[in-house]
Amino acid sequence: MFGGGSTFFPVEIPFKVAVDPCFVFEPSEHAKDGTHFFEIKSDEFFKKLDCGDLPLRQTSSTQPIKFDIIFIDGYHTFEQSFRDFENSLRYSHKKTLWLIDDTVPSDAYSALPNPEISSYKRHRAGLDRGDWHGDVYKTIFAIHDRFPEISYCTLMGGNPQTVLWKAERSTRAPLFSSISEIESASYYDMIRHGKVMMPITDETLPNYIFRSIDPALEAAPDSWRQVITKPNFRNLSPEVTLMDLLVVSCKQSVPARAYLKFNKDGLGAVLKAIKNKLRENR
Ligand SMILES: C[S@@+](CC[C@H](N)C(=O)[O-])C[C@H]1O[C@@H](n2cnc3c(N)ncnc32)[C@H](O)[C@@H]1O
Repeated sequence: MFGGGSTFFPVEIPFKVAVDPCFVFEPSEHAKDGTHFFEIKSDEFFKKLDCGDLPLRQTSSTQPIKFDIIFIDGYHTFEQSFRDFENSLRYSHKKTLWLIDDTVPSDAYSALPNPEISSYKRHRAGLDRGDWHGDVYKTIFAIHDRFPEISYCTLMGGNPQTVLWKAERSTRAPLFSSISEIESASYYDMIRHGKVMMPITDETLPNYIFRSIDPALEAAPDSWRQVITKPNFRNLSPEVTLMDLLVVSCKQSVPARAYLKFNKDGLGAVLKAIKNKLRENR
């Protein structure tokens, strides 16, 4: 949920915890009382936290740790971000604020859940550059449908992020019939249901925070316009065919990577790469 430190380091707070399987800095160089780094995946972090296996303690309390602010910005898929949110609930209190990053993908390519397919399709469509937001937007749909006790709004300035807090919403009607229906939603569904994202301008956040917010009643009627942040949504289909899946998985396969390595480093390196892969899979 944390990478280069550009978000984490500027936060001045006596107790803070960073979790990322791959920090791009040396955590020991930033060691400080009250600052904790865990170079593991978020699932493992919560598992260890649940078992009391992490050396984390807030003041002298024996109660489970409760975070004031939880920033979710790990692997950009619905599956992972929703699980991170659900896991983090156990470590929240009445006034905890969540910030979920990348909740509004910049175009239909950015919204694809697989980063390699996203970049492959984008390239095939003749578009050179673009982000990968993945399908984190579905986590907001799922929270809307499954957690009516949570209110939220989405800050549309810059890269949109959703701010969430505990406040019961007045209507409980879900938008989708099941989590699997949410799972199969597309970027276009997100636009169609733009209201559910509860888009707001950053400056107006103080008018909403900690209030009970019901997107069905409070979001601007043309909210869908606000969730369109780039023009590529209109005419380029990001449909993923079986052929795309095949091409991308072939590109990523061991022989393909070994071939690239062979061209670069010679036969010895290829044999070593294959041997390592076989050892990993044993
Ligand atoms: C978009 S970057 C986040 C950058 C970070 N917010 C910052 O400002 O420096 C996404 C990060 O999520 C990490 N990540 C990927 N899978 C993860 C997981 N399962 N659990 C926790 N972090 C993960 C990646 O290593 C990467 O550093």
